[in-house]
Amino acid sequence: MAKPQRLYHILSSAQFTREFLEDFFRSVDSFVTQLGQRPSKPTKDMLAAMYRNYLMFNFFYEPSTRTRFSFATAGNRLGMRVEGTDNAKLFSSAAKGESLAHTIATLSAMAPDLIVIRHHENGELEEVAHRSAVPIINAGDGSNEHPTQTLVDLYTIYRVMGRLDNIRIAIGGDLKYGRTVRSLVQVLSLFDDIRLLFVSPKALSIDDETRAHLHIAGIPFVEEYKITANLRIADIVYWTRTQAERATEEELGSFDPDDFKISLETMAMFKQSMALLHPLPINNEIAPEVDNDERALYFTQAGYGVPVRMALIDYLLHGYDVQTPEFSPIPGVAKIWQR
Ligand code: NCD
Repeated sequence: MAKPQRLYHILSSAQFTREFLEDFFRSVDSFVTQLGQRPSKPTKDMLAAMYRNYLMFNFFYEPSTRTRFSFATAGNRLGMRVEGTDNAKLFSSAAKGESLAHTIATLSAMAPDLIVIRHHENGELEEVAHRSAVPIINAGDGSNEHPTQTLVDLYTIYRVMGRLDNIRIAIGGDLKYGRTVRSLVQVLSLFDDIRLLFVSPKALSIDDETRAHLHIAGIPFVEEYKITANLRIADIVYWTRTQAERATEEELGSFDPDDFKISLETMAMFKQSMALLHPLPINNEIAPEVDNDERALYFTQAGYGVPVRMALIDYLLHGYDVQTPEFSPIPGVAKIWQR
């Protein structure tokens, strides 16, 4: 029997298959159970023995709260040491003009076990990941992708719905620059009987590549340019903020934010059994009072960031101590698959 393909660097949601996700979520389930609300001392000791003396580099060129802390927490819970920097644009040699390729080659030469990077340039990480002998995880690259957030989002949907097929999902906000949506949509198309409703300002709608991908995958979708009563039947409403740091003045001025704001009145229109998710941070696209609605599950979602990333670290490191597939310290085309 052919050996199943194993992921090495985690750079894009396009790498995830349905089989991988189903297996992976079983592993996340087990970490969720072990962690509980707060793990007991014996559980902490047991978990911390798993990767004691392993080392994670956490390198963030763009701001982050959830992703950086949940990677660090996941690593710490598994006994790893975590080194790194935020604001790497300023606090790493990038400030002295070093390229990402050279930074990665340097970090890799120090032989950590794992490198987590958030970078501001779309797709650059994928180009240079082969410069690393150890797994690289994309923690968000510009407006391109955020594959580990997708694992968190999809795991939350699976916990809430108890299934991943046959779901109506409304996705709203800035769908042009939001990397979490671009990554999430790619995996949703792996499942059966998914219907999508996109709600965004016209200037910030999904791109043609995403539309083409959905057409090819046979996923029906509708695009709307403000909140309407069509949201009534959504099982999941996944909302996002406007990426003001990426959008142009013209795009930002082209719409009324109130048309995209989820208020208590909007919540009253939603199904009783639905869940409201958001990758966070929230600006003004969800009214603060909505936090109290039991269907607003974005903090639960953020909490899953730790067990999801523990499972990912375990997946990447378990039994793969001494291997450097496709490692090539010279420039070339990145290959994101191992074996
Ligand atoms: C998102 C991100 O960084 O892309 N946040 C996250 O990682 N949870 C969403 C955002 O910045 O809007």
